[in-house]
Amino acid sequence: MEMSRGLAADRHVPVMLTEILDALAPSLARSGALYVDATLGMGGHTEAVLERFGEARAIGIDRDTEALRLAGERLARFGDRFEGVHAVNTEVADVLPRPADAMLFDLGVSSLQLDELDRGFSYRADAPLDMRMDQTSDGPTAADVLNTASQDELERILKTYGEERFARKIAHAVVKEREKQPWTTSGRLVEMLRSVIPLASQRQSGHPAKRTFQALRIEVNDELRGWEQAVTSALDSLAVGGRLAVLSFHSLEDRITKRAFATASASTAPPGLPVELPEHRPEFALVTRGAAVPSEDELERNPRSASVRLRVIERTRAKGSQS
Ligand SMILES: C[S@@+](CC[C@H](N)C(=O)[O-])C[C@H]1O[C@@H](n2cnc3c(N)ncnc32)[C@H](O)[C@@H]1O
Repeated sequence: MEMSRGLAADRHVPVMLTEILDALAPSLARSGALYVDATLGMGGHTEAVLERFGEARAIGIDRDTEALRLAGERLARFGDRFEGVHAVNTEVADVLPRPADAMLFDLGVSSLQLDELDRGFSYRADAPLDMRMDQTSDGPTAADVLNTASQDELERILKTYGEERFARKIAHAVVKEREKQPWTTSGRLVEMLRSVIPLASQRQSGHPAKRTFQALRIEVNDELRGWEQAVTSALDSLAVGGRLAVLSFHSLEDRITKRAFATASASTAPPGLPVELPEHRPEFALVTRGAAVPSEDELERNPRSASVRLRVIERTRAKGSQS
């Protein structure tokens, strides 16, 4: 048991932990507070919440059954204060018994997923091109995307989700290669990327497969569209005084968060109205002005946190209320 807890704890370092606990503290200190970790992962953030806020209970959602199993072992010592739920968080409101006092979305992939080499997330091992976070879903795998998407679609995926400069060349090579033999393994893809991406660029921009693998993972798991839906559902399921914290790793994720939070915290009064009527007052207020970033110290300790942005918002009045 002790070993399993150690294992889960060692497999993913929770990002911006102190900043998140401090930002959520006013809502978590309330008696019987409900904390929702909508991307449970290895349960690092949830463990810290349950330790620091002795009266809080937590619901942890993950689409990855292996993450749920490991986090479940790690959090078993909290008894019925913790409940794990296997679900996709796009409709988080449907999973909750009541509005949440605090909620966290730590978007993206976990170190567990990257480390489990046979799941195809890593370009460092030759494995089946799977990349589904939910191993029970019959959704498309990365191999399916490479074998069925049109060349234009592949180019768009690589350019938008991977910010890959050589998206067109790579998409062309993917289609040419699959005419010879369908894509099945990551090793062959890495080899092809090494041959297509100019050497000078490989020297400057890190591993040649990094951006393509990120793009495929985002497409396979429908991460950006999913996040657009999830953020609306999350805002809907916050109690008054409840806070939502979001850690984004990709600039497009952060843009979606920023836009959703700006809309939620803006007055709906028509322009030119001299006085704001109660029904036009926003239902939310921003807790972080702009996005918070990790400290120098954290960046040094955990390079994975390099691109992260934290935004926090609070529900200040009930949905549709006029008070
Ligand atoms: C970055 S990790 C979370 C790490 C966690 N905060 C910790 O400290 O251990 C993200 C997790 O969210 C899960 N996830 C990503 N998108 C999801 C979605 N749409 N619905 C449910 N879980 C999702 C992934 O499977 C992964 O386990």
